[in-house]
Amino acid sequence: MHTVASQFLGKTDVRGSCCHPAVVAMLLLLCLGFVPTVAPCPPHCLCASDIISCSGSNLSTLPFGLPSYATRLDLSHNALRTMQVAWVSQPFQRLTTLVLSWNSISQIEMAAFTATPRLLHLDLSSNQLRVLNSSVFSGLTELKELLLIGNQIAQIMPGAFSDVNSLQRLYLSANRLTSFPLGLFEDPTGPRNLTFLDLSYNRLSKLPVQSLLSLSRHAGIYLQENPLLCDCALIALLEYWLWKQYRPLVDFQVGYQCRGTAVREVNCTHQDLSDIPLEAQSYRVEPGDWLRVPCPGLGLPVQQGLIVFWVTPRTALNSSASDLRSHLSVFPNGTLEIQGALMEDSGIYECVVARGRYYDSGESPEARVRVGNSSVTSTTGLARRSSGEHFNTAFTTLASCVISIVLVLLYLYLTPCQCRESRGGGSRSCGARAIILCSDPREVESGQRRANGKRVAFLEPQAEDSDISVLKTPVMTLDHISTEGILKNGSRTVGHTLTDLAHEV
Ligand SMILES: *[C@@H]1O[C@H](CO)[C@@H](O)[C@H](O)[C@H]1NC(C)=O
Ligand SMILES: *[C@@H]1O[C@H](CO)[C@@H](O)[C@H](O)[C@H]1NC(C)=O
Ligand SMILES: *[C@@H]1O[C@H](CO)[C@@H](O)[C@H](O)[C@H]1NC(C)=O
Ligand SMILES: *[C@@H]1O[C@H](CO)[C@@H](O)[C@H](O)[C@H]1NC(C)=O
Ligand SMILES: *[C@@H]1O[C@H](CO)[C@@H](O)[C@H](O)[C@H]1NC(C)=O
Ligand SMILES: *[C@@H]1O[C@H](CO)[C@@H](O)[C@H](O)[C@H]1NC(C)=O
Repeated sequence: MHTVASQFLGKTDVRGSCCHPAVVAMLLLLCLGFVPTVAPCPPHCLCASDIISCSGSNLSTLPFGLPSYATRLDLSHNALRTMQVAWVSQPFQRLTTLVLSWNSISQIEMAAFTATPRLLHLDLSSNQLRVLNSSVFSGLTELKELLLIGNQIAQIMPGAFSDVNSLQRLYLSANRLTSFPLGLFEDPTGPRNLTFLDLSYNRLSKLPVQSLLSLSRHAGIYLQENPLLCDCALIALLEYWLWKQYRPLVDFQVGYQCRGTAVREVNCTHQDLSDIPLEAQSYRVEPGDWLRVPCPGLGLPVQQGLIVFWVTPRTALNSSASDLRSHLSVFPNGTLEIQGALMEDSGIYECVVARGRYYDSGESPEARVRVGNSSVTSTTGLARRSSGEHFNTAFTTLASCVISIVLVLLYLYLTPCQCRESRGGGSRSCGARAIILCSDPREVESGQRRANGKRVAFLEPQAEDSDISVLKTPVMTLDHISTEGILKNGSRTVGHTLTDLAHEV
């Protein structure tokens, strides 16, 4: 409480004569104890309305009695070693962001995070984790983003991510993983909606190419700067991703060793293969019939040991271990066979094989299959998907900009305690403070006001003379900003859309 009060009151004497009644009223309220009491801010910490920062304080144990009103808690750059189950005395029901980066955490007790069930962002980067035990993140059912960059993780136990089923973005960059964590996708209680997985700067040498062919349709998987063995399957995958303009590969192409001369040394391309132009083919089959689709550009005879993958609308399969009795199979010569065609088999089929070249933009190694009269609904995956995502992001950003401008204008012109024009130059800075000083003290307490059902937090200016820029930079309550906040490690303060906060402090 003292921190908050002194922060606000400290500003009033600067040029604060214009809003005197409000200041006096607030002082009175504070003195008379109208503002409900709030847990005190622990030593070594800074407490704002809903943010607690205990960063860089050489803490080896957690401060006792952290206020539970926080939505963001920053404990980075300390000397913490373990996360115990009882790391807080009472659960943080509102905490959405927890930053634990740059500590020495090597142990996380099982169920340590059950005290923070609302967490959306968890940053455990730059610690000393070596293994992710089973159920280590249990209780984090709403977690969307998890940063584990720069640990020494070599092993991910089965079930490590069970319970974390809302997880969308996982950063495992700069660790010591030697095998691709397929369990992450196969665990039925694990993340269902993982759309971003960063495994760069690890020690992966082999990849489950077939699984990646189907996974990468739904997720961005970053694999650059791994000591990957350049073999025919990997070459096929990389060529295919490039043709698809798969973002994680296009953006970090130089981070793959399997390029140029490395590819030429691996002898897996048939000499004729690179000359045959690739054209999309179309096929039609009646339901229940069978169909054989040759791999575009793959002539006879096929070199011994060449693996041909097919990416089908629902799965991916290869020529090396085909079960010829199954509904879909691939012959050793690369031809795909569909037996007893179903309506759902309609779609685009892509033949992925190491061809030893990049495709021209007009070329395509795909076949369109129509079963019966059904129309081909499935779209050609990655490239279009990612551009759509970018559009969405741009649109969201634009919309939030417009909303923020409107809200700022509302505040500027509808605040009752606006400063009079006659005060000239200095009056604008008054306006900025008026926003805080003239609002309801209980709301001042939490640094927020409501507008149109949304909560907006206004921050005090950093520099005294930046009067106008203050008005332009409110911190909005938009979720996508928080990602930036967590990555910049607290340099930017974040507001969150929580449902009801006003009178709880
Ligand atoms: C941090 O704390 C440890 C003991 O907990 C102490 O030995 C060390 O000197 C402290 N470091 C700094 C920079 O204060
Ligand atoms: C994982 O479990 C083992 C054995 O239960 C324990 O020794 C180790 O500290 C745990 N690791 C972490 C990171 O918690
Ligand atoms: C996954 O995403 C879908 C659609 O965005 C959503 O309906 C579903 O609830 C999400 N599942 C989880 C476990 O978050
Ligand atoms: C080929 O398919 C089989 C069966 O699905 C699978 O076990 C094998 O790993 C695949 N080969 C490659 C190189 O992905
Ligand atoms: C591939 O092999 C199958 C079965 O051996 C055969 O029916 C088909 O004609 C072959 N395809 C090509 C393009 O040679
Ligand atoms: C497909 O379309 C033809 C006419 O275009 C129609 O006679 C036939 O019944 C249709 N078949 C199915 C399975 O819908």
